[in-house]
Amino acid sequence: MKIEMELNGRAVTHEIDPGANLLSVLRGMGQFSVKLGCETGDCGSCTVLLDGEPVNSCVVAAARTHSHKVTTLEGLLGDPLMKELQQELVDKGAVQCGYCSPGILISLYAHFRAGNELTDHHLREALTGNLCRCTGYVKPLEAALTVAQNQQGGPDEQGGAS
Ligand code: FES
Ligand code: FES
Repeated sequence: MKIEMELNGRAVTHEIDPGANLLSVLRGMGQFSVKLGCETGDCGSCTVLLDGEPVNSCVVAAARTHSHKVTTLEGLLGDPLMKELQQELVDKGAVQCGYCSPGILISLYAHFRAGNELTDHHLREALTGNLCRCTGYVKPLEAALTVAQNQQGGPDEQGGAS
């Protein structure tokens, strides 16, 4: 079957298997930031934005994205907020094997863009759907809190990282 979607701001038409998940279709379209982990909706490594909301693309039928907007990390590389998040993950040493990093970046980006609270508690919640085997979440959280502090004009307006 044929689907038409807006992928990273560009209208694309793609022939898909009716049973295909969005993860496999996106990777077939060269979106290699979308990682295959559990394929059961548990690890978050395949997180993308569907109409601006983070979803686990392994459990979204590709057919469902017909006439919808899909955004992957590739589509956000020029975005100032995404650049800042990426740089902080690197600076804080939060990218070890890096397999979880695209999903973490998409989840944090969506959280910030939605205007959610940027406290330690809320940033932890934003990452609950993203499993990371390497970092113990301390460093990704530190990175997120630093970006939050920058966005909010300084550390005094934050609740702290503990
Ligand atoms: S691969 Fe999609 S949630 Fe794990
Ligand atoms: S950095 Fe390896 S799984 Fe997160």
